[in-house]
Amino acid sequence: MEQDVLLDVRDLHVEFRTRDGVAKAVNGVSYSVAAGRTLAVLGESGSGKSVTAQAVMGILDSPPGFVTGGQVLFRGKDLLTAGEEERRKIRGARLAMIFQDALSALNPVMTVGAQLAEMYEVHRGATRKDARAQAVRLMDRVRIPAAKERVNDYPHQFSGGMRQRIMIAMALALEPDLIIADEPTTALDVTVQAQVMDLLAELQREFTMGLILITHDLGVVADVADDIAVMYAGRIVETAPVHELYRAPAHPYTRGLLDSIPRLDRKGAELYAIKGLPPSLTAIPAGCPFHPRCPRAQDVCRTDRPPLFAVAPGRTSACHFWKDTLDDAR
Ligand SMILES: Nc1ncnc2c1ncn2[C@@H]1O[C@H](COP(=O)(O)OP(=O)(O)OP(=O)(O)O)[C@@H](O)[C@H]1O
Ligand code: SF4
Ligand SMILES: [Mg+2]
Repeated sequence: MEQDVLLDVRDLHVEFRTRDGVAKAVNGVSYSVAAGRTLAVLGESGSGKSVTAQAVMGILDSPPGFVTGGQVLFRGKDLLTAGEEERRKIRGARLAMIFQDALSALNPVMTVGAQLAEMYEVHRGATRKDARAQAVRLMDRVRIPAAKERVNDYPHQFSGGMRQRIMIAMALALEPDLIIADEPTTALDVTVQAQVMDLLAELQREFTMGLILITHDLGVVADVADDIAVMYAGRIVETAPVHELYRAPAHPYTRGLLDSIPRLDRKGAELYAIKGLPPSLTAIPAGCPFHPRCPRAQDVCRTDRPPLFAVAPGRTSACHFWKDTLDDAR
């Protein structure tokens, strides 16, 4: 079946030019998302997950950040080279983003109702009254109790979980084709995390949107994502359908991440941790960037950079020894 590809990021490069040198934050990232699908982007802090999303959304902190190569195709149109008008149209209405910290993403001196209503007034030319009604409807939709009254409250009057629901409502307002959610539940309590994640997944299905879910928590990925892209030092090191990756990772880094998840069936067993730290992005190691931390590293890993090998349909791994890694896991 031909899938309706919404976003196709190709060989994206982003660097930050700072006084301390050039930080190569994104080094040839490619991923794509189809309508109705959820792609999880996973990786340790600093691996380039957010910067990739910022480049897609056109909100890169520039300077010091610069896109130095690649394409960001939205329904085949390259957002990096499209005219200003077209870019604004797509990024304003077809693509939406949800951030980790709702409190700083929302305007503190405007009621949430006014912020939601503004979307309809500005983008849809709705009257104030209609826009208000839409705002209440949206708040209902993301299950904020007593939406009719709470529409007049300010962001700080809501709990963290409720604020995150309001952010989801803002993102949904114009019925985008694709939402990028950057660590949308990290700041919340575990039980609230699950509720917000369930809501997001439900809405994604209902509106057949594409969803990119950025996270460093492998635990939340399994239930909601279809596919997963694992990032390390500004590169994608493995892509796979989620369940295949869980069953048998094809990259030692993914293996390490999976082995570091606490599991009930291994209660009492010592938790595995990947040794060492991610590299400095101003001095990424030669060869495989993961080699200083990799339990499987050989001489070739120190000299030859592994490309993304095709492992199986829909699966890739940037490891010279992907086959052994896969065999070990089976
Ligand atoms: N405004 C900036 N100025 C300079 N360097 C930056 C800036 N933003 C990001 N970087 C560089 O890009 C790297 C990748 O950052 P990014 O925010 O994409 O990481 P991440 O994978 O989202 O991590 P986290 O899980 O902590 O959110 C950072 O480690 C940093 O070196
Ligand atoms: S290429 Fe070598 S160092 Fe890199 S992940 Fe594979 S085995 Fe480890
Ligand atoms: Mg981030």
